[in-house]
Amino acid sequence: MQYKKANRFDQSFLKENIMGPNPAKLLEELLEAYPIPANSTVLDLGCGRGVTSIMLAKEYGLRVFAADLWISATDNWNRFRQFGLTDREIVPIHAEAHDLPFADEFFDVIVSIDSYHYYGLDKEYLGKHLLPLVKPGGWLLFVVPGFHKDIHDNIPEEMLLSWSAEDLDTLHDADYWKDILSATEGVEIVSISEMAHCLECWQDWLETDNEYAVNDRKAMNAGAGAYMNFLAIALRRT
Ligand SMILES: C[S@@+](CC[C@H](N)C(=O)[O-])C[C@H]1O[C@@H](n2cnc3c(N)ncnc32)[C@H](O)[C@@H]1O
Repeated sequence: MQYKKANRFDQSFLKENIMGPNPAKLLEELLEAYPIPANSTVLDLGCGRGVTSIMLAKEYGLRVFAADLWISATDNWNRFRQFGLTDREIVPIHAEAHDLPFADEFFDVIVSIDSYHYYGLDKEYLGKHLLPLVKPGGWLLFVVPGFHKDIHDNIPEEMLLSWSAEDLDTLHDADYWKDILSATEGVEIVSISEMAHCLECWQDWLETDNEYAVNDRKAMNAGAGAYMNFLAIALRRT
């Protein structure tokens, strides 16, 4: 893929601000498959330092609410302003995914890149906390890290070079996610599919100086990537 939008970021900005495998590239691949209609109001849930939120506002021209738990709203606002974004285009919010301060049916689309697996594995989460915020007919588009096939019963040694079994608890295959998501009524599972460019996104992350990336290098350089993927999850509120 050419990543016409993701590659517009200054590479040193990206290296300093991504919090996992290149979220800008993951977002671009996701939105090639599921374009967001113009003039949509979008929640970027678990936006981290807001790389994908900046892209949604600047490159896709959408109205964005950028919500995250670990990164403060002020930190993100300062970054958004560096990109010339205004409060009409993007709103940073410090929020926990179970307590999102928005009206029901407010969003056309909710996007979440490399974050939903932290809270969405609870079967009740979607129906209780997230789906109500989406307009009927609106979309939920997630990218989560996962496995080609669940391997929790027999974790390959190369993975254990960087991660404990507990660290891998939130990674699952498409069938597992289907079971979780199908517990919620009022949502169509449009697709759960493996993304094409997993290792390239990992490589961009491993080249950063982030201490988690440095730790991840051991497993990934030993070939752990062979078991892993990213899943694109597309849901529609009925
Ligand atoms: C691996 S980081 C990814 C951040 C960003 N999307 C990126 O790719 O650079 C996961 C993000 O999910 C957010 N997150 C995890 N649990 C959360 C929760 N319960 N509520 C809101 N955000 C949460 C964290 O704050 C963190 O920024």
